[in-house]
Amino acid sequence: MNAEELMKEAAKAAKNAYAPYSKFRVGAALQMADGTVITGVNVENRSFGLSNCAERTAIFTAVNLGRTDITGIAIAGPDAWEPLPPCGACRQVITEFCPADIPVYYDNGNGGFITSSVGELYPANSLMDMAEKKS
Ligand code: THU
Repeated sequence: MNAEELMKEAAKAAKNAYAPYSKFRVGAALQMADGTVITGVNVENRSFGLSNCAERTAIFTAVNLGRTDITGIAIAGPDAWEPLPPCGACRQVITEFCPADIPVYYDNGNGGFITSSVGELYPANSLMDMAEKKS
């Protein structure tokens, strides 16, 4: 599946977002090594701080299914008016399972998407990855 197709899966997933407070729906789609796609949505709560982002929902769903072989990440926000890269907490969680070279595609807020990578979004971790590869 290419980047556009993975973004479409993320956008489809966003329809299931539970975002009655922010009215800001987000969907994430993980490409797995065998071609499977695992999705997640943001799930909010009346105690706002307990809300879970789409990216973390997708990763926790994958782990729950016994899958961590993530080869690509797409994040779609149909309500976004500006680029929608993952938040800091999600970047930390992503780096628990994804090496620096995994691509991250995120909504540009204007009908398209931006291509980045785990290492670009969380550089310190990518240095750790490089050190691990050397040893
Ligand atoms: N949100 C995500 O799900 N992913 C992001 O990358 C940014 C923000 C959610 C959290 C909250 O439910 C809503 O979007 C507004 O911040």
